[in-house]
Amino acid sequence: MRVNGTPYRTVWMSNGIVQLIDQNLLPFEFAIKECRTHQATAAAIERMTVRGAPAIGAAAGFAMAQAFGEAPQSDLWEYVRQARERIEATRPTARDLFFATERVWNEARSAWDRGCAATTAVETAWRLADDSVAASRRMGEIGRKIIPENARVLTHCNAGWLANVDYGSATAPIYSSAGRGNRVHVWVSETRPRSQGARLTAWELQNERVSHQIIADNAAGHLMSRGEVDLVITGADRIAKNGDIANKVGTLEKAICANEFGIPFFAAAPLSTFDFAISSGDHIPIEHRSEDEVFFQSGPDEEGVWRKIRVTSPESPALNPTFDVTPARYITGIITERGIFRPGEWPADLLAEPAAQNQR
Ligand code: MRU
Repeated sequence: MRVNGTPYRTVWMSNGIVQLIDQNLLPFEFAIKECRTHQATAAAIERMTVRGAPAIGAAAGFAMAQAFGEAPQSDLWEYVRQARERIEATRPTARDLFFATERVWNEARSAWDRGCAATTAVETAWRLADDSVAASRRMGEIGRKIIPENARVLTHCNAGWLANVDYGSATAPIYSSAGRGNRVHVWVSETRPRSQGARLTAWELQNERVSHQIIADNAAGHLMSRGEVDLVITGADRIAKNGDIANKVGTLEKAICANEFGIPFFAAAPLSTFDFAISSGDHIPIEHRSEDEVFFQSGPDEEGVWRKIRVTSPESPALNPTFDVTPARYITGIITERGIFRPGEWPADLLAEPAAQNQR
């Protein structure tokens, strides 16, 4: 995607330094954060400088490559084992993170005998990022077929290019369709508490000149009941074997409402998000984050000075589960780089593919 005419990915690595578009500053400032060690990259994942399952996966792959580069030869595997543990402890829900750490570890392990574990780790991390871009592009081509002319599409959170290295998962079909002249309109639900929809998806759509409006999270049901939503497309952070999906908290309510009003509900995600070792969504670990994300909002004031303000009753506690699980029965289809599947109805070869298997 282009920002002020310059093409960017969300995450990349140069000279051993992981570079990330700082998503905590968007849409108010565009800045690149440099992470010089695997610890710094892990901290950036934890603080959501980089976020969104496939982008987290790419960052985790590069963090593993950094660890291989840092490790002393005498203690290489113990050093990298500890680094992997640290990286995997950052965000528990997104399957892509574990997919990436496992891939880099396995590929480097098999190259060790040849004395090229570290270079293989870097090559594997790059391949994962490139594969993610290719998968997003395919999801766009495949998914645009489900978007009718002049459709009003509702999306939740940010499953855009910021969340995916490039193009997006939920937004890839929208960009692809709009790029071919479809006058699609997007309802962007704000996605409290961190407002990924209001901040990031809206910024992306504005950048891409796609018609859109931000709505409060709790306005979605109303719009659906009035026939103002033709289609819902969200991303996914982990997809279980039976087709249940974990996605940003608030997705479940949208899926139930869509079902009630007969509106198709699609999730879009690459195969690296699938976890066929988990039989149903009941087994997906749900991340809980700090109460502060509910208590405070931050951004620049009218003079451009960053402020953090409390928006809740000062004495009241909060609870901040950051994902929910949408049962397969509410999902019309899952858009992947291999095609659109009914949840749980996967082609046999997909079930057998290492990409779709979770070998822990
Ligand atoms: O907590 P985040 O911002 O990393 O949330 C993950 C997401 O971006 C969404 O749940 C998204 O829809 C799936 S990842 C493309």
